Amino acid sequence: MKIIVCENYDGMSRRAYEEIKKVMTETGGECVLGLATGSTPLGLYKCMAADCEAGKISYEKTRTVNLDEYVGLPAANEQSYRRFMRDNLFDKIDILEENTRFPDGNAEDLAAECERYDELLEKTPRDIQVLGIGSNGHIAFNEPGTPFDGRTRVVELKESTIKDNSRFFASEEEVPRRAISMGIRDILQSKKILVLASGGNKAEAVRAMCRGEITERCPASALQRHGDVTVIVDAEAGAELC
Ligand code: GLP
Repeated sequence: MKIIVCENYDGMSRRAYEEIKKVMTETGGECVLGLATGSTPLGLYKCMAADCEAGKISYEKTRTVNLDEYVGLPAANEQSYRRFMRDNLFDKIDILEENTRFPDGNAEDLAAECERYDELLEKTPRDIQVLGIGSNGHIAFNEPGTPFDGRTRVVELKESTIKDNSRFFASEEEVPRRAISMGIRDILQSKKILVLASGGNKAEAVRAMCRGEITERCPASALQRHGDVTVIVDAEAGAELC
């Protein structure tokens, strides 16, 4: 694992953008980006949008696959991850909507939807996967206890995750209890992995991910088994690393 500790959130975002730019430049934009939601990658998405708006980079040939989606939130709901990505990135860059993929949290048959997404992932190998990390060490919505060989599936969110994510909703009751999440095995199939973390509430999870035992109790520790992971954190999130 390559670990980079930046002074602050902006530095982390700019450094993360360099990694994305590298992949975009090497492939002429003809690549697959695995994208994540949450507040952590917002600064990275701003950098991507700024360069695209300035005509310095184009996503016309780029495809994206997202990690997860809540179950039961209409796609237009402000907190759906599809809507989040549209508002924070896709509407600001020149990507084609049909090239952006999500699991459908409103599918009638959720098990069939998970299979469909896994087939899509097989056919769409990611050049780089952006990840945030939950304060309990989750990646995507793979909560502690998730087997490392898991594929896309419906997950029950842990109480701590519901609490963490309630800041985006009017109340804790409104946070969906279930989500469809890419599995850890799917995540590990990406050629490169870029993990971002910011803030002191992530420091322990970052330590466990990078320096802790490889254990299902910390889903992010599975990343130690991947050969090309770059972890970029701000000083607060990196505080437990030394
Ligand atoms: C959410 C998402 C994850 C994200 C994590 C951290 O539950 N499913 O993909 O990495 O929580 O979110 P944040 O960046 O807002 O701290």
